[in-house]
Amino acid sequence: MTSPESPASPPSEPPTVVAVSGSLREGSYTRTALQYALRAAADAGAETRLLDLREYDLPVYDPDREDTEQGDALELQRLVREADAVALGTPVYHGSYSGALKNFHDYCGWDEYEDTTVGLLATAGGGSYGSTLDHLRITVRGVHGWVLPHQVGIRNASSRFVDDPEAIDGRTFEEEDLQERVEKLGRMLARYAFIDPDVSSARADADD
Ligand SMILES: Cc1cc2nc3c(=O)[nH]c(=O)nc-3n(C[C@H](O)[C@H](O)[C@H](O)COP(=O)(O)O)c2cc1C
Repeated sequence: MTSPESPASPPSEPPTVVAVSGSLREGSYTRTALQYALRAAADAGAETRLLDLREYDLPVYDPDREDTEQGDALELQRLVREADAVALGTPVYHGSYSGALKNFHDYCGWDEYEDTTVGLLATAGGGSYGSTLDHLRITVRGVHGWVLPHQVGIRNASSRFVDDPEAIDGRTFEEEDLQERVEKLGRMLARYAFIDPDVSSARADADD
């Protein structure tokens, strides 16, 4: 029997894994953690890209806006649509996910997420991240993303990293276990990027 992490039948092309960072904070722990996940995905054979929402012009979603008034939204939608797997990372804000990530998510629907494997990561200043991950899971389900059972919550974020000039973002995880959970998310995104390539045709059959 294969383990959940070992490739059953390796895909013929490398999967594309993108990570969306929903924190606009310069020293974001979410962004650091996502980069560790992406490195693990790359080590597992994926092509990876960080979508740091700080670097994109994304106006508050307004369905009445013309395409030309939507800043970088079309480019972000394309990057998500073309990805085989997406990591969504967010700070815990008021027990849920950040407004920046919600705004990004409002631009995305079935076209972006259907057939897409999704991994979740939440970073809390305090001790609780469960509701944030649940909210993300429900909203991604609503646009038919395939959310991995493995998810990562980081509590008490400011004490979870130690400075290391050689490391990603100049810091590394204080506990190996937490780093392993984050890296497992990246490996599983690569592993399950093509989890069900036939789902669209299955839906078309069902609609007939
Ligand atoms: C508006 C706001 C709301 C927050 N709400 C919570 C919260 O409900 N629970 C919690 O544990 N931390 C909360 N925090 C703290 C953040 O989760 C924490 O600073 C986290 O590290 C931010 O992630 P980042 O480092 O990626 O920016 C809040 C912070 C802000 C700015």
